[in-house]
Amino acid sequence: MTDSIEKGREFQFTDRDFEKICKMLYDQVGISLNPSKREMVYSRLARRLRANSVNTFSAYLALLEKKDHAEWEAFINSLTTNLTAFFREPHHFPILAEHVGKIKGRPVTLWCAASSTGEEAYSMAITMAELYGTLNPPVKILASDVDTSVLEKARKAVYSLAQVEKMPESRLKKYFIKGTGSNEGMVRVKPELCDMITFRQINLLDDNWSIRGPIDAIFCRNVMIYFDKPTQLQILQKFVPLLRADGLLFAGHSESFHHASQYFRLRGKTVYELSRASHGSKL
Ligand SMILES: C[S@@+](CC[C@H](N)C(=O)[O-])C[C@H]1O[C@@H](n2cnc3c(N)ncnc32)[C@H](O)[C@@H]1O
Repeated sequence: MTDSIEKGREFQFTDRDFEKICKMLYDQVGISLNPSKREMVYSRLARRLRANSVNTFSAYLALLEKKDHAEWEAFINSLTTNLTAFFREPHHFPILAEHVGKIKGRPVTLWCAASSTGEEAYSMAITMAELYGTLNPPVKILASDVDTSVLEKARKAVYSLAQVEKMPESRLKKYFIKGTGSNEGMVRVKPELCDMITFRQINLLDDNWSIRGPIDAIFCRNVMIYFDKPTQLQILQKFVPLLRADGLLFAGHSESFHHASQYFRLRGKTVYELSRASHGSKL
């Protein structure tokens, strides 16, 4: 194989560097990159090379191999894709409300398992506030992501007006505070709503998530697409003991878990419930 080096680039970036990066990312967080992502990898990591004052990718990778923790975090944060939005795939939220609405006389636990910058978890919190008719419903939401920089943004709960422009005015008024002065053009989620959510770093690839179940519903949307089937299967298997017997798993619009029918069965609209076999293991 040729170890091609593109001319005219700021940093030397060989096929071998790209392959090594793919393997490191896969081993750490399960993300499988295909060759079409080569340019994206170059441009996202070029910033890290500058920050570390190294001038070849191989020097940067040597630095990572020393297990420098701070740089590992920055490496992973640079390569995750964090696209999200408030009430993305909106059909899921009424299903969540209907499901939780059947629960009587006990607190509810939800998990947003790849929360990115927080919009999904806050959409779940708004759904719960609307269901119970209060900003303090008996609901706890765990929101997690592997990327520490998106979690930091999520905890701040500050968004641009453009990010909430599709929301009805009544929702905006009830659940957000409009910024003024130097915060003009921004909104902040009301603190009561924030209190419902705990943001934590969790790598879905880790053996032990230290999460206490039982959980009523897991949102794991638009993250499994980055994993191969064996990795998806491992994660789905670990969801089973955490979910309540009647719990729901919400997947992204292009995700399908047909290959995990021993654990989950499709209820419709990319919402899954535990399979008969998983039920058996809970009884
Ligand atoms: C495209 S966003 C999806 C956000 C949100 N769930 C949604 O559907 O709008 C994918 C998120 O998965 C996170 N992610 C990738 N690999 C992960 C892993 N191994 N463990 C936890 N989160 C991961 C990324 O950091 C990113 O924020």
